[in-house]
Parts: sequence; structure tokens; C-alpha cells
Amino acid sequence: MPTASRPRMRFAVIGCGMLAQAQHLPNLSRSHKAELVACCDLDRASLDHCARTWGVTRLSQDYHQTIADPDVEAICLATTERLRLPVIAAAAAAGKPVYVEKPLARELDEMYAIQKQVHASGIPLCVGFNRRNSPAMIAAHRIFRQHMEQPKSCAWRFDREGSGRPRLAEDGTAVMSVRINDDWYSWKGWVFDKEHAPHGPMVFEMGHFTDLCNWFLQAEPEEVVAAETGMLNHAVTIRYRTGEIATITTGSNGSFGYPKELYELMGQGGVVVIDHMLELRTAGIPGAPEQVVFPLVGADRHPDVGSDLGLFGWLAKTRAAAAEAVATGDPMRQFAAAPDKGHAAALDRFVDEIRGEGPTVCGVDDAVRAMRVCFAAVRSAREHRWVRLEEV
Ligand SMILES: NC(=O)c1ccc[n+]([C@@H]2O[C@H](COP(=O)([O-])OP(=O)(O)OC[C@H]3O[C@@H](n4cnc5c(N)ncnc54)[C@H](O)[C@@H]3O)[C@@H](O)[C@H]2O)c1
Repeated sequence: MPTASRPRMRFAVIGCGMLAQAQHLPNLSRSHKAELVACCDLDRASLDHCARTWGVTRLSQDYHQTIADPDVEAICLATTERLRLPVIAAAAAAGKPVYVEKPLARELDEMYAIQKQVHASGIPLCVGFNRRNSPAMIAAHRIFRQHMEQPKSCAWRFDREGSGRPRLAEDGTAVMSVRINDDWYSWKGWVFDKEHAPHGPMVFEMGHFTDLCNWFLQAEPEEVVAAETGMLNHAVTIRYRTGEIATITTGSNGSFGYPKELYELMGQGGVVVIDHMLELRTAGIPGAPEQVVFPLVGADRHPDVGSDLGLFGWLAKTRAAAAEAVATGDPMRQFAAAPDKGHAAALDRFVDEIRGEGPTVCGVDDAVRAMRVCFAAVRSAREHRWVRLEEV
């Protein structure tokens, strides 16, 4: 429960659609650091749902009114990316911090205009690259960065040539591989609308992954090359100024029956793997745990199945849920307990940041860096060449 000495920060959610209903509204309602006090949406039915489900009484269809409300201290902006700059500009003028869903903008010029507004006003802004706040990612990041910065060889490393090994400048340099398995039959109609999402998944989704590559590698992206089949599949390579390489491979003709995300990091003779934020594994890093499994979030309808959690636990629960979907004819039954992707922690940690009690969670400059890689990838795929970051 919130303590009397520390009132919760009062948030309004602007855009109370699918993601907000699944994450931000319940997360704010449950938070010990933040409080849900107001909702804004053009859709009256969504507002009624917010009133019924979370007891919100301050309801509006006009975001100007919501931002001006003196009882609102901070904004969570979860409209689709058609609406970003005007809301952020209004919040900046009112001096109110903003948590904004990804992508930060549909186009480069809007993104830079947002960055300018945020810098000029000095408001804290956090972009919803939520995976940085997942317990699995935080643990993996800590292990990997510590190993990169203070590497220790494991006792059994096969050092065939010993002191006769050639000295290579790239010795120890990190590489990160990201594999995304998706099923495009599940996508919402608006993602195919060019006015809504003009550059497809490389902009509306891939920022999550370029941000993670930048964050894990702690390096400055320099150039990008990408191939895509159209909208569904792409392979992107990012080269960093200090030599690191990251690859992101997305296959959207995949299946929900297998985890969406696999991250593999290699550097300084060590490996860190994160399977869908369900478990992490390491090798070659003295003192690091070989395997850690993480608790699932959401109601677990199959506590007796896959109770060892981790990748295989999730697969067992997902198979059980898929069988229910078939038996009941309700496709939504296939969704079982899920990994913690950090949505709730992102908002709580943003409150700490706003209060000066925690680090920047995912600020505008980091988000712009991640999105520039995405825009460079779009251009590379179109022009069939490496694109340098300064070109976008
Ligand atoms: N971080 C994640 O994991 C994650 C996951 C899914 C979606 N998203 C992002 O979240 C955003 C929202 O996605 P969604 O699936 O919830 O979309 P959605 O269409 O279900 O919801 C958007 C809501 O915004 C409302 N809206 C539109 N214009 C408005 C305005 N002027 N004022 C107030 N409300 C307005 C709509 O009525 C709708 O209810 C997208 O940008 C998407 O990329 C992020």
C-alpha cells in the first residue's frame, strides 16, 4: 500500500485502447507509486469501461482538458502513433512528464520535433520500450555488462595457442542476435494502413529491439543494412562505431505456439541468452548462474502444467491453452500466463525518475537513437545499400 508520507503520482491515460486496457490501466491501478486518476479517449465506450473497471471518475474526450486538469501530475500516452507531437507539446507546455508508447513517431521530422520540445521544456519523458524493465532483461544486462567491463576467462576456455595467439583488435568485441517469431494473422487492421503506419513493422515494432541492442552493447550505432520481403520478414544488421555488430531477424509467418523473442549475446569469451524473458542462460562467465527462470505474470490457468517455468514450462502451458482454444472454439483461450515484459515496472521506475530518485528509464535521446536505426533500416531495404546513421 502507498505510505502516508509518499503520495502516489497522479497519472492520466490518454488513449484507452487495447494496450492500455491490457497493461497501463491495470498496472497504474495496482501500483504503489502511481495512481490512475483520469482517462481520455475519443471512444465513449472505452471511457465507460474505464469508469466501470477501474472506478475512474475524471473522463474526457479532449486531451487538452485532461492535461490541464490540476489533479493530473503525469501523462501516459497510449494512443496509436497517429497522435504523438500535439499531446507531448501540450504536456511540455504544462510542465507535465509523459510516458509515451512506442513508436515515438511515425516520421523522422515529427520525432526530431518531439525531441526538441522535450529538451526545451525539460520535462521527463519515457518511451515505452518496456523490455528494459523486464526482470529477465535487467538480470541479463547486469551479467553481460559486468562481464564486458571486467571480463574473466572461465577456467576451461580452450586457449589452443596461449601466448602464441595473434593479437586481434576485435578480441572480446560483443555481438548480439535478436530473433523475432510472429504470426501476422494476429495483427490489427491499422498496421496495414499507410497513413497510420507508413513504414511498417521496421518502425512500429522494431524500435523495441534496436533499443535493446543499443542498451546491451552500450555502443553508438554507425550504419545499418536491411533486407525485407515486404512487410512480414526482415533481416537487419547494425554495425557500431566501436566494432560491435547486432542482427535482428523477424519472421512474421511464424507461430504463437513458440516464444516470440530470443536474444543471444556473445563477448569476452562469454554468452548470455534470454529466451522470451522466460529464462536466461549463461556460459563461459565465471560466477554467473547457468540458468535462471522468471515468474510469469497474469492469471495462470494451468498451474499444474509446466510448473518448472522457463522455456519448457511456457511451452507446456501454451500447448494446454491452445488445446482449450480448439475445444471451446474461443481463440483467446490460447493466451496463457505470459513473461514479465516490464510494462508495470517501466511506469514505477519512471515515477522514481521524475522524483529524482532513480535513473533515466528510457529517455528521449535513447529512443531517438533506437528509432534512427529503424529509419536507416527502412531506407537501406528500399535502396539496397548500407545506410549511415547521419543520413537519417
Ligand atoms: N509496448 C508494447 O508492448 C505495445 C504493445 C502493443 C501496442 N503498443 C503501442 O501502443 C499504442 C496503442 O496501441 P493499441 O493496440 O492499444 O491501439 P488501439 O487502437 O486499441 O487504442 C488506441 C486508442 O487511442 C484512442 N484515441 C485515438 N485518438 C485519440 C485522441 N485524439 N484522444 C484520445 N484518445 C484517442 C482510440 O480511440 C483508441 O481507444 C500503439 O502506438 C502501439 O504501437 C505497444
